[in-house]
Amino acid sequence: MQPNPLAPSWLSVPQDANALATAVWSSNAARSESGELTVAGVPASALAAEFGTPLYVVDEMDARGRARLIRESFDREFARIGSSVKVYYAGKAFLSVEVARWMIDAGLNIDACSGGELAVALAAGAPAERLGLHGNNKSVREIDRAVGVGIGAIVLDSIIEIERVAEAATRHGRVQSVRLRVNSGVHASTHEFLATAREDQKFGIPLTEVAEVVALIRSHSSLKFLGLHSHIGSQIFETDGFAEAARRLFDVHAELLAGGPVPELNLGGGFGIAYTSVDDAFPIDELAARFADIVSAAAERLGVPVPVLAIEPGRSIIGNAGHTLYEVGTIKDVLVEGTAVRKYVSVDGGMSDNIRPALYGADYSARLANRSSDAEPALVRVAGKHCESGDIVVHAEYLPADVTPGDLLAVPATGAYCWSMASNYNYLGRPPVVAVRDGVARVLVRGETEEDLLRRDAGLDAS
Ligand SMILES: Cc1ncc(COP(=O)(O)O)c(C=O)c1O
Repeated sequence: MQPNPLAPSWLSVPQDANALATAVWSSNAARSESGELTVAGVPASALAAEFGTPLYVVDEMDARGRARLIRESFDREFARIGSSVKVYYAGKAFLSVEVARWMIDAGLNIDACSGGELAVALAAGAPAERLGLHGNNKSVREIDRAVGVGIGAIVLDSIIEIERVAEAATRHGRVQSVRLRVNSGVHASTHEFLATAREDQKFGIPLTEVAEVVALIRSHSSLKFLGLHSHIGSQIFETDGFAEAARRLFDVHAELLAGGPVPELNLGGGFGIAYTSVDDAFPIDELAARFADIVSAAAERLGVPVPVLAIEPGRSIIGNAGHTLYEVGTIKDVLVEGTAVRKYVSVDGGMSDNIRPALYGADYSARLANRSSDAEPALVRVAGKHCESGDIVVHAEYLPADVTPGDLLAVPATGAYCWSMASNYNYLGRPPVVAVRDGVARVLVRGETEEDLLRRDAGLDAS
């Protein structure tokens, strides 16, 4: 079959428009004998019947497995170079009480970037010393709470915060461990990185100012300086950007050693994952080996001890574990510029449950979930139901041409930054999140109903 001329160059006509690309789908996603999608043994139609659509479906053992794999791989590789690693799960990707427990069980720490995320991790029973707090504008209350519960580390992001955290630590009679977020001038995304002398962005302290700021941190007896922190971007497939950031940070790290201990270095998260079959993510064990090589080479170059490495992956743990199930509502064949047809398949969710395509132009893939089909593949655009032409769930995908209203569609790799960035746009309730494991589904986060949304409308109190 000839490709549709409207298809992007990266998207080829699939041999089988029902196939589930291994790198994109969770490890327990499969087709049953009847051709239906199952996740951890639970059929898509059973999930939709019990919980409705849209629905976020998280493959529990897949998420737990990725968390363990990342920790074990980094532990092994850093033991090889005589050091160790602290892996923080970046809760912003997706956090619920159960997910926090999975991460703690897998031996990870948890990184929160607001009081709300911290509250979820604490509600899960996560030990406070295994939590970290981020953010360029943490409120005084958030800082006070974090210090008060005995949080393991706070990442300072401005000079103003030094005083705020030091004061809170004094008030609580604690010595608070802190990292300093630096702006390395390296910004990486997918296959490229950009290195500037100074990046124009809100996060961190420029490297040129770090010595002075660390001296200020060290002047407070209520603060303990752990080391520098940098996060260079997201959805990164190459390690060159991390290597450049590590090189830049190490120059400063080595200078700081003259003034006192610098036991750690935090290189953030951002490891890329496969959203479509053309995304080629690094296997985690290879990534861990590269990181160990980068860090040991940088330390050797300057003749300093290899510090403890901290990393903060989010999407590479939870992204491919999650899927969204939608029901197809309407279908339109749109003749574009009089030459080719694009099939618009509209589903019952959209930018309120996945803002990433509209916000970043992110690409996703999709498959028929309630059945498979031998029909010829047709180029489709999966659209949401919102009042916004940019409300697209999947820009371009080939699906069997007989896709029809009432079919279920599954979009894989929606475990990260979908539920956590969801909104109530157009008064849609945020969908529930269910975990599936060994043929059983259970709710992780309940969905919102119209009643939930109306309950918050104070106008009703007056009537
Ligand atoms: C400071 C920081 N750490 C970690 C992460 C996690 O990134 P990812 O989920 O891409 O691994 C982010 C994401 O924005 C971040 O800003």
